Amino acid sequence: MCGIVGYVGGRESLDVLMGGLRRLEYRGYDSAGVAVIDDGGNLETAKRAGKLQVLADELARHPLAGGTTGIGHTRWATHGGPTDRNAHPHLGDEGRLALIHNGIIENFSELKNELLAEGFAFESETDTEVAAVLLGREVHATGDLREAFRRTVARLEGAFTLLAVHRAEPGLVVGARRNSPLVIGLGDGENFLGSDVAAFIEYTKRAVAIGQDQIVAITADAVTVTDFGGAAVEVEPFEVAWDAAASEKGGWSSFMRKEVQEQPDAVANTIRGRIVDGQVVIPELEGLGDDVLRGIRRITVIACGTAAYAGMVAKYAIEQWARIPVEVELSHEFRYRDPVLEADTLVVSISQSGETMDTLMAVKYAREQGARTISICNTQGATIPRESDAVVYTHAGPEVAVASTKAFVAQITALYLFGLRLARVRGTLGDAALAEQLAELQAVPEKLGEVLEESDRVAQLAHWMADTRSVLFLGRHVGYPIAMEGALKLKELAYIHAEGFAAGELKHGPIALIEPGQPVFVVVPSPRGSATLHPKVVSNIQEIRARGARVIAIAEAGDAAVLPFADEVIRIPLAGPLFEPLLAVVPLQVFAMELSTAKGLDVDQPRNLAKSVTVE
Ligand code: F6R
Repeated sequence: MCGIVGYVGGRESLDVLMGGLRRLEYRGYDSAGVAVIDDGGNLETAKRAGKLQVLADELARHPLAGGTTGIGHTRWATHGGPTDRNAHPHLGDEGRLALIHNGIIENFSELKNELLAEGFAFESETDTEVAAVLLGREVHATGDLREAFRRTVARLEGAFTLLAVHRAEPGLVVGARRNSPLVIGLGDGENFLGSDVAAFIEYTKRAVAIGQDQIVAITADAVTVTDFGGAAVEVEPFEVAWDAAASEKGGWSSFMRKEVQEQPDAVANTIRGRIVDGQVVIPELEGLGDDVLRGIRRITVIACGTAAYAGMVAKYAIEQWARIPVEVELSHEFRYRDPVLEADTLVVSISQSGETMDTLMAVKYAREQGARTISICNTQGATIPRESDAVVYTHAGPEVAVASTKAFVAQITALYLFGLRLARVRGTLGDAALAEQLAELQAVPEKLGEVLEESDRVAQLAHWMADTRSVLFLGRHVGYPIAMEGALKLKELAYIHAEGFAAGELKHGPIALIEPGQPVFVVVPSPRGSATLHPKVVSNIQEIRARGARVIAIAEAGDAAVLPFADEVIRIPLAGPLFEPLLAVVPLQVFAMELSTAKGLDVDQPRNLAKSVTVE
């Protein structure tokens, strides 16, 4: 949600900023802007509503003079609509400083009234401009950008990452973060700032994640980090585990198409090194100790959207293997209902970005209540892992398309590894059963490859159905969250009304929606693995078929029972019942992606959305 990039060094900063913004555009694409300063203190800005290309076109028509210091922003609108005027940067100190912001300044109207009363004027409706004008006032009062910046952030409430430049200090970018991400990229004779490492990965893999309530100042040769009070903070650089190519489309027509194809690798990389001599080894959890894992009496999973569906899938597996009750809750609901949390409750958060504000706040709340917290995360140095007692990273690689795909299968994989580790420590799974489940997990990448080979058929189906106005999805057991995930993908990518139901719930209401021609996807459990559930789902198919539904079944290879009742059958390879969701989700992702493409929509950047939701 809003992408931020800053640069000081020997290069033309506009090139660095535009390249960084291109990689960060998935975070928000309502508007974009840059501010550049040359050595003589000449400050220029350009900003435009619309996607980054609109700004690029504007810069091509009206080039800036350039300079080696700059800041850039890509916006997901919160306060004030996506207009040129509301786009960042915003100016202060009578146009001598430029400031960009990610987050929400909650006390902005109080501050704005204060500044209006002092005679300051505003050009936009944004909360950000208040910070810019306030900073201008403080620069005027102190004559020092760093001191003025400290004074400014001390007045702000809410969530913010801010970057600012001032013409009086041409080789300096100052930044601050509270509850919103900010990472430093360490270069040689140059330094970078970004909302995430994608902003500067083209230039350096050495990074530092800035902590909560910290201020950073970068020049070409130095980086200083302090707390909001000005006290120096020790930083710990880390090496980014992927390179620039991983965040490029690499010849694919969209990031989503590439990321869907990368799913076998996402699962394989998440497993890699974590199964040793037939045992699950998760070194990141060693700090917690086996005694702690043994003593857990309850697990609460908190997450949003697709990540929450990954949690729902894992609930079935963890309860079955480790015999611990697991509840899954949407992060934004969790902390507002006074949940029962005790020292033997383990709170597991799931977040691809590691920055989702709802989940971050829920994790903080859980810790304050005394619960232990583990984070399942795909982004090194992100905030949620830093706020948790331990982190199990998924190794899906950077996920750029706004709709989550490869992170979802990697999240389930990491949660399964955790569940099997837990089962082992607690003695609820014997050697043979553990070996069987591990073999199933290790076979998933190859089977995912087989499912992906069927993509052309799914694409054809999507193209036939391009005019469809509503699609329903049914599933049972682990197929139920997959049905909801299939519906979510279709809503967000193809803007089609879609609902996912538990197939058993059909007769309790939703069956009234079935009318002749209504398309219904049914995730069918394996007849071998789920002997009791399979016939029930086949009966559900018959019930909707009798009412005219057009049934598209996702069924195991060789399952003949569905054939007489389904209009289309998409086959997935044989797998243990708990591993089917990892395979069954793929045709649903492909269907949504292809239907979006057939409708001529932007599959990577669906309307109104942003990749990383850093506001509540
Ligand atoms: C849907 C999607 C979202 C995210 C959700 C949580 O395709 O991507 O529903 O899963 O916003 O995001 P993270 O995992 O970054 O916390």
